[in-house]
Amino acid sequence: MTATHQTHGKNYNLRDEIKAYWSIRAEKFDLSPGHEIFSEEERQAWRNLIEKHLGPGNGRPALDLASGTAVISHLMDDAGFRVTGLDWSETMLALARAKAKTRGRDITFRMADAENTMEPDGSYDVIVTRHLVWTLVDPAACFAEWMRVLKPGGRLLIVDGDFVNVGFGERLVKKLAALAERIGLIKPEISHAPVELAGKHEEILSQVHFSGGARAEDVAQLLRQAGFEAVQIDHDLRKIHRAQARHLSFFKATARGLQHRYAICATKPL
Ligand SMILES: C[S@@+](CC[C@H](N)C(=O)[O-])C[C@H]1O[C@@H](n2cnc3c(N)ncnc32)[C@H](O)[C@@H]1O
Repeated sequence: MTATHQTHGKNYNLRDEIKAYWSIRAEKFDLSPGHEIFSEEERQAWRNLIEKHLGPGNGRPALDLASGTAVISHLMDDAGFRVTGLDWSETMLALARAKAKTRGRDITFRMADAENTMEPDGSYDVIVTRHLVWTLVDPAACFAEWMRVLKPGGRLLIVDGDFVNVGFGERLVKKLAALAERIGLIKPEISHAPVELAGKHEEILSQVHFSGGARAEDVAQLLRQAGFEAVQIDHDLRKIHRAQARHLSFFKATARGLQHRYAICATKPL
């Protein structure tokens, strides 16, 4: 390569890597309990969580950020919100659009970065986002952006977790599961995430803001710094996890119940 053709630095950044990673994960995303919903019991538990923090939809505009295959978008649509889903993986968006078509639902999906939505100021009553915050590159800038697109008095609902710090109980359960698998007591757990992507996942995780794990209190603190008020952390996701557990192995369900998973609701001041 001549000097003129040499590249200086990268023109493929962390955000591109995150996009590429999820585009590969898209195809099998809905096969996992915890992603797609597999029972009316779980659907109802999600509905209750949404209603508890956001109230009834009543045709109000809602933005589902990092909408993926649109699981949350459909819950919001069912709850009566007028939903727009944003994601930056075209593969995810194609699946989301196909699902809305199959269900005959009118949900808008657009390609955009949740950190720079391109949506107009003060245009949404509600923002909802599940399993995005842990992977944000710049959450402070992002929360300021969400504040901008919310109407005064609008609400934000985050559903996320710390998937990095594994507590003693969860470590023990995982060791028992590995042992039970080794001695043939249980079948190996089916993973819908390709094993060859595990390294990429670690590499991405090591570079994001919450590389040490997205603890609810740290996320809440950043939300307050961005100007959100009435920031409430809700750890009561038991009904959702109990419903998911019926579609998971005993060990996986037990581990999930021990993880630091949460919802956070916050309000833009009037
Ligand atoms: C774990 S999936 C969650 C999908 C969906 N929220 C759900 O809970 O079913 C993460 C999604 O976030 C999207 N994503 C990650 N970072 C994003 C960003 N900065 N802006 C928009 N989408 C993003 C990915 O493309 C992927 O669809």
